[in-house]
Amino acid sequence: MQSFLFLGLLPLLALAAPSEPSLEKRAITCLKVGSTATATWKNSAGKTCKWTGTVGSNFGTNSGNGGDYSCNGRCGAGCSGASLGNAYTQDCFSHDICSWFNNASGGSSDANCGAAYDAAVDDTVGGVLAGCGGTNPSNAASPPKTSPTCS
Ligand SMILES: *[C@@H]1O[C@H](CO)[C@@H](O)[C@H](O)[C@H]1NC(C)=O
Repeated sequence: MQSFLFLGLLPLLALAAPSEPSLEKRAITCLKVGSTATATWKNSAGKTCKWTGTVGSNFGTNSGNGGDYSCNGRCGAGCSGASLGNAYTQDCFSHDICSWFNNASGGSSDANCGAAYDAAVDDTVGGVLAGCGGTNPSNAASPPKTSPTCS
């Protein structure tokens, strides 16, 4: 039943990642709003970067790419960008955080965050079905005070 529903959503998956529709199976790990999580991604230099912070935190608008980072970890832009419900997942958190610190743009094609973007596509499509639906918090905008560590 679930896989049937998921197949019905595949056209949306293709829309979300026009350059690389992938049938690769990936895991969806739910995160709880207000909890602490560690974002992880590999940057364009091949280093693994990590940053730990709060799921649902609000960094505000990124002056480098103009993006809305108001509900970090939510699959979809900010607290209100288009999405299938409000799923909060590890891959969406990793992508949001990578994207903020690297002023990412272009989704899949971004040199630093493209892989994190690709990893978040299935979360965006199936996160709510996977039980990761949450309630969007309303936190005041506050940019992060610490930087990622990359090694
Ligand atoms: C992101 O953009 C801001 C504002 O233009 C700039 O200060 C910062 O150095 C940029 N960061 C990166 C990683 O490009």
